[in-house]
Amino acid sequence: MTAGFTPPEPQAVAALQDIAGTGGWRAGTDMARYFEDPRGRFTGQATLVLLPDTVETVAKIVRYCCAQKIGIIPYSGGTGVVAGQLSPYSPHAVIVSLERMNKVREVSVEDGVLVAEAGCILQDIHSRAELENMIFPLSMASKGSCCIGGNLATNAGGIQVLRHGNARDLCLGVEAVLPDGSILHELSPLRKNNTGYDLRHLLIGSEGTLGIITAASLVLKPQDPETVTVFCAIRDHSDGVKLYKELRASLGESLSAFELMSGFGVDLVRNHFPKLPAPFAEKHSWHLLLQFDGPTGLNDKVEEVLGRMFEESLLVDAVVAQSETQSEDLWALRENTPEANRMEGAFCSSDTSVPIRRIGHFVNETNEALRDIHAGLRINTYGHIGDGNIHHNVFAPEGTTKGDFIQAHPEIIDAVRMAINEVTHQNGGSISAEHGIGRLKAADLESYASSAKQKALRSIKNALDPFNIMNPGALIR
Ligand code: LAC
Ligand code: ZN
Repeated sequence: MTAGFTPPEPQAVAALQDIAGTGGWRAGTDMARYFEDPRGRFTGQATLVLLPDTVETVAKIVRYCCAQKIGIIPYSGGTGVVAGQLSPYSPHAVIVSLERMNKVREVSVEDGVLVAEAGCILQDIHSRAELENMIFPLSMASKGSCCIGGNLATNAGGIQVLRHGNARDLCLGVEAVLPDGSILHELSPLRKNNTGYDLRHLLIGSEGTLGIITAASLVLKPQDPETVTVFCAIRDHSDGVKLYKELRASLGESLSAFELMSGFGVDLVRNHFPKLPAPFAEKHSWHLLLQFDGPTGLNDKVEEVLGRMFEESLLVDAVVAQSETQSEDLWALRENTPEANRMEGAFCSSDTSVPIRRIGHFVNETNEALRDIHAGLRINTYGHIGDGNIHHNVFAPEGTTKGDFIQAHPEIIDAVRMAINEVTHQNGGSISAEHGIGRLKAADLESYASSAKQKALRSIKNALDPFNIMNPGALIR
């Protein structure tokens, strides 16, 4: 697609400021925080940041930008890691941040729905749901700062997908502004609504390229009476897959998180967050962090099943959290992993998925492929076994800084990314499991998506956004 970056003239900037009103925009150095990439690999640019506080103002901004052919970058919590919310290559676009649209408009326990504006922080939605003894079960490490608009725009995944699905599965309807500035009012609480193309699902996962989601009807589910958190030591990641199968069979839907961590990964987090207690006195090569949510008596049932897993030698050790604090400490080992990777200097952070039955091959083959590229690479393999979504974070060899290493091996970042993509593809997987495509993976999508898919993606984009003003350069180059 040709980028829709017509540089905004000064009178266009003034007109947009006027539409957004007092307190509704930022310029100059006040824009700096919108240019930050959580992993420090990109720096964004923009002419202006707009902060509309109603859907009508968003629509006016979009109508103006459409008429003037000005590019728009929709901006949510800024936690995306594939540069979907950053324009590193051109300053000629305006950012539309939804941060002032942060109200919960409605909660209905009967309908099991919470209507949130796009700028609501995910954790605030969790807290609001809890007031009604309900849960909104989308959760991820960035929950304290990511916003629901971005969660939906990227169809975010996270740690409870195996039970509750991705963001897409937890949304009943959206309100959105389309690229011509029209407003789509589809905030439905309906579970059954079979009325043609589901535009909600077209917008979810479109990464801001087909419109701006301004609010959403979210699925609430009843709180489970008991939660059990278990940190396990296992011999090998392949035992993790076997255990997953066994626990699903024995405990069914109560299994809500099944996370893999390597011994290297646990040490890495504890080096950067030394206050976090070690889960076990001894070191182990592989670990699992499990969460179960279910009816009263679940704890006993989980312990009984885990006992059986010990007898079958699938478990080496396990600690069942005895308090909320202990559970939080165990989860902190997992949730601080992305930050520890960043602090350690990861130069590649993959996000691919394979069928669960292929995980064993995938982990072995990726590690071999990476060591073939450079034998000294340090690799943190971890992620969501229940979703087939295993991340690899790759670091310079021990004793070498990231900067020196990349300078000596400038081709290594691409080589590592491509090797992981290739092994993923050979195992029947996807090059983006839960983070989306953004600008980081737009070229990879061209390499791996079928021509039929690419043609359809471009046709849809052209039909809805003929001037390519919506997040130009993201998802489709
Ligand atoms: C995680 C993010 C990086 O699972 O997807 O930690
Ligand atoms: Zn993840």
